[in-house]
Amino acid sequence: MKVHGRVVVVTGGANGIGAAMVRRFAADGALGVVVADLDDAKASEVAADADRVGSQGLAMRCDVGDEDQVRSLVTAVLERFGRIDLFCSNAGVAFGKGVDAATEEWDLAWRVNVMAHVFAARAVLPSMLARGAGYLLHTCSAAGLLTSPGDAPYTVSKHAAVAFAEWLAVTYRDKGILISVLCPQGVRTDMLLGGLASGDPAARVVAAAGELLEPEQVADAVVEGLDAERFLILPHPEVATYLRRKAEDPDRWLAGMRRLTARAAGA
Ligand SMILES: NC(=O)c1ccc[n+]([C@@H]2O[C@H](COP(=O)([O-])OP(=O)(O)OC[C@H]3O[C@@H](n4cnc5c(N)ncnc54)[C@H](O)[C@@H]3O)[C@@H](O)[C@H]2O)c1
Repeated sequence: MKVHGRVVVVTGGANGIGAAMVRRFAADGALGVVVADLDDAKASEVAADADRVGSQGLAMRCDVGDEDQVRSLVTAVLERFGRIDLFCSNAGVAFGKGVDAATEEWDLAWRVNVMAHVFAARAVLPSMLARGAGYLLHTCSAAGLLTSPGDAPYTVSKHAAVAFAEWLAVTYRDKGILISVLCPQGVRTDMLLGGLASGDPAARVVAAAGELLEPEQVADAVVEGLDAERFLILPHPEVATYLRRKAEDPDRWLAGMRRLTARAAGA
């Protein structure tokens, strides 16, 4: 799918990977790009950037963990543009904590990293199914395929998010709905850089695991993956190798993860 002429929604579009996707989609000639985020001020700036290159940029405040707000977002976009071609469920939260993360943090991980995708699918699928066409892009993480040592709520919720996307792909692909999951490793955004600045062990392992990409490189990989209509979009191609090794020999893979974690802790 090419984004030229399409109506696109990007949650978490005010910063980082989401903002880079918005700018790239606008540069590629998207008709409308909706920037949905908790951060109104940044969302307005990013929407204005989309406007400047000829897309209709629209900023909307939305807490993706609240189903009513996701439903209102979708209704407002359908009223304005008449359709949503691509819904990028991208907002996410990280914690840098293990089993001792507060129950409220586990709940937040579940709401924002998992249920937000469910809320988006519930809200947007009826109009897509009625047209027999639509595309859902879910930003998950390499942590959803492998693991994120140092962040248990993030790892568990991102695994669930990948599982939900697989389920959607099996259930809806033959009804004209395309699904992709975006699973990067480290990307230079506030989420990761903030964690590195505070010495968060999860962020240190991510930084030790491989190259940190710029958000714009991730947006390039997204456009390439959407174009190919590929389920698994891996801006760090080595993640496919790690996934294969995990499947082939889980014990060996776990030992490797323990070594990487120890190395990052000593760095
Ligand atoms: N940065 C990385 O290394 C990395 C790696 C793999 C996956 N990811 C995933 O990429 C996605 C984007 O993260 P990022 O790195 O760009 O982080 P970021 O912190 O730069 O941006 C996240 C955006 O999501 C918004 N957001 C958070 N909670 C929200 C909510 N409840 N409702 C609406 N908006 C909300 C924030 O306001 C922010 O604008 C996340 O799902 C993250 O888990 C990031």
